[in-house]
Amino acid sequence: LSLVVLISGGGSNLRALLEASEDAEFPARVVAIGADRDADGLALGEEFNVPTFTVPYSSHADRESWGDELLAQIQQWQPDLVVLSGLMRLLPPRVVAALSPNLINTHPAYLPEFPGAHGVRDALAAGVSQTGASLIVVDNGVDDGPIIAQERVPVLPGDTESTLHERIKTLERRLLVQAVLDIANGHVNLKEPSHT
Ligand code: GRF
Repeated sequence: LSLVVLISGGGSNLRALLEASEDAEFPARVVAIGADRDADGLALGEEFNVPTFTVPYSSHADRESWGDELLAQIQQWQPDLVVLSGLMRLLPPRVVAALSPNLINTHPAYLPEFPGAHGVRDALAAGVSQTGASLIVVDNGVDDGPIIAQERVPVLPGDTESTLHERIKTLERRLLVQAVLDIANGHVNLKEPSHT
């Protein structure tokens, strides 16, 4: 299974996929890494010898033209699956339509709880005792696509946004690697992903 992974940040979830794919038994390869900005995680391209591309959101007049350029870059690699792993942009409908359902996203909350760009901060602010991580198939909504996998993590006393986010990311990495494995092995059909 060939993957293009899109990031905006440090790419710790991407690193998990790259490390997993170093095992010859793992049935997926990251063929390219894309970003909407000069993301720190692009350095993983050198480390793991994977091509990278950047489509700066700031260099486009609007979301649609950014999306069209991003889609053109993605399609050059003919991936079987596109993974949004910390991409902090909503994809325009044209891009979702072109890639769906082979387009998944990892979100640091137990959807439908706390969707959007600040799921960790919102959970902390809500004072909940547990939150989680979710893997979804991307549709045109905000974090409201079909759920492929999700699990709970506790919110602990004294948690800060970063300690909670680190705990969530540890789970996200496991869910993401497992989901790619399940998709590659045909155990998950993205057209009707089973709820875990
Ligand atoms: C992840 O928690 C992802 O769910 C969220 O942003 C974070 C990205 O972290 N959208 P990293 O760049 O993979 O370290």
